[in-house]
Amino acid sequence: MKALLIGGHGQLGADLARTAGDRTIVAPARGALDVTDAAAVRAAIAAGRPDVVINCAAFHNVPLCEDEPARAFLVNAIAVRDLARACAERGTRLVTFSSDYVFGGDARSPWAEEAMPAPLQVYGATRLAGEHFARAEAPDRTIVIRTCGLYGAGGARSKGGNFVDNRVAEARAGQDLDMASEQVVSPTATHDLAVATWQLLDAPAVGPGLYHLVNEGACSWHEFASEIFRLVGARGTVRPVDRGARTGAMRRPRYSALANTRARALGVTLRPWREALAAYLRQAYPELVVA
Ligand SMILES: NC(=O)c1ccc[n+]([C@@H]2O[C@H](COP(=O)([O-])OP(=O)(O)OC[C@H]3O[C@@H](n4cnc5c(N)ncnc54)[C@H](OP(=O)(O)O)[C@@H]3O)[C@@H](O)[C@H]2O)c1
Repeated sequence: MKALLIGGHGQLGADLARTAGDRTIVAPARGALDVTDAAAVRAAIAAGRPDVVINCAAFHNVPLCEDEPARAFLVNAIAVRDLARACAERGTRLVTFSSDYVFGGDARSPWAEEAMPAPLQVYGATRLAGEHFARAEAPDRTIVIRTCGLYGAGGARSKGGNFVDNRVAEARAGQDLDMASEQVVSPTATHDLAVATWQLLDAPAVGPGLYHLVNEGACSWHEFASEIFRLVGARGTVRPVDRGARTGAMRRPRYSALANTRARALGVTLRPWREALAAYLRQAYPELVVA
């Protein structure tokens, strides 16, 4: 299998490349292939003849999307539409990623794939638009994977690293933290998501449409940070705070944990979030992990 990775130098893209096995990966740098350049994307697909295009590119600094809605809509929706159109023209499969932020947050249990989205901010609205565009342009060959709370080696440059590495740095500095206790998520290791993405693509019965791939379970950011502090033996404490699920005037979902039901039916699941976190920390910080 030959895969073209767009946005393939971020934390998920790097793990997709690392876990690709004997697949051939082509991952142009952002400077060489910008997902918003429809002509360049079409030319790359025509020249490379990949079996699958995997789009990891996104404008996902959530507060910045409020300030730059046109850019958010361009990267997260229009570019995804044009990419799906180019894939449809050549009969190429497309995998594109989306977000838990398509949901409104008024749930008590993880959102399944068919649950009704109701985004609360520009970012979520542009992701939902991208999902619809891609599935409308290439209904038979598009897989949309929603995921949540990603962390992986190197972190996401546009988000200032990853949540786990940032907490470890604070733990090392002996800091005490205030962490949001009112937002519940499914934190997910990009390594596990990458492995599951390849498994999904290989599943003989996989169909197009929406999938939720996350490490199993749900926790608040406060619980997640507390577990990081526990695992690295931090001296500091993590205090729960309720920020009203807002950043300034922008709303965030209170509950955006996701349930994997469709991939599970094909035998594709990810391990529980605590196990994935411990494995990440053991790998990244072998000198620190005490539990
Ligand atoms: N991180 C999370 O917590 C999270 C949660 C839910 C869903 N997701 C989704 O999962 C996917 C992968 O996320 P990730 O954490 O791996 O993101 P990431 O580390 O930020 O990687 C995204 C990559 O795409 C690149 N990119 C951005 N705009 C581009 C453009 N116009 N053309 C080409 N490349 C572009 C980025 O370059 P720069 O580094 O130069 O920006 C980066 O290399 C994304 O769709 C993301 O929205 C992420």
